[in-house]
Amino acid sequence: MIPALSIRAAKTEIDNNLNLQQLAQLFQFKLTENIEYPLQLVWENNQLCLFQTEVKNQGGILVDLCSSQSDYRRNQASIKKEVIARAVGIKPNYRPSVLDATAGLGRDGFVLAALGCQVTWLERNSAVAALLYDGLARAKQDSEIGGWVAQRLKLIYGSALDEQNILASLAADKPDVVYLDPMYPHKKKSAAVKKEMKVFQSLVGADLDSDGLLVSAKKIALKRIVVKRPDYAEPLNNEKPDFTVDSKKHRFDIYLVNV
Ligand SMILES: C[S@@+](CC[C@H](N)C(=O)[O-])C[C@H]1O[C@@H](n2cnc3c(N)ncnc32)[C@H](O)[C@@H]1O
Repeated sequence: MIPALSIRAAKTEIDNNLNLQQLAQLFQFKLTENIEYPLQLVWENNQLCLFQTEVKNQGGILVDLCSSQSDYRRNQASIKKEVIARAVGIKPNYRPSVLDATAGLGRDGFVLAALGCQVTWLERNSAVAALLYDGLARAKQDSEIGGWVAQRLKLIYGSALDEQNILASLAADKPDVVYLDPMYPHKKKSAAVKKEMKVFQSLVGADLDSDGLLVSAKKIALKRIVVKRPDYAEPLNNEKPDFTVDSKKHRFDIYLVNV
């Protein structure tokens, strides 16, 4: 079941901050001065974070495209080094457009945008979509990356399983690639799963309907569908890919369209 959430903020912000009011309205969150739920969105220092209220001394989860971690990933990203670049089919003179149809915290999509692809993040969980919306809005204001982020990254709030709606939102501008990275149950004991990942898992659940994503993606992608899987996982929907590209921890299953 999707957990209930609200956005906690100071009263002055609730009353006067138009960005916060717009964000709450877009994603249908109540604004409150109190902590109300075990998972709580919090508006602090002009950014949106997700906290697990019963855990002390934790950093919140947020989308921070300007953080040193994102900077490092972006600066290190190169067509040769990034396995994901090979998987989506980037070439020295070719950058496919990508629908990152299970965007999550947007990291993979951000790397592809940093490499020059036009990327649309698609996310169905309202809290995750709100975190992406906030992270994108802040990144667009950044003096270093704001220019290209505004040109290359977009967000749609909705489900990839609803392909008619998604095609309408894309204004029929179909992407070359649909990229899929649904949640997959971890094989290792949960202690091995990072704290941040655990909070994220309790927010979005297990994506039990993910097999259907391949069917929808085939109606949307012009050239290929790329599915990120843990190396031990079966292919999505048990459908054999046309080929795979392997990285250290993952494998990318690639399905070619219209061949
Ligand atoms: C493992 S995370 C993706 C992580 C992401 N690749 C990254 O780099 O941060 C999976 C995300 O897909 C989203 N998701 C699953 N099924 C979806 C669907 N049908 N439509 C849109 N989003 C979906 C989940 O809500 C979750 O946020």
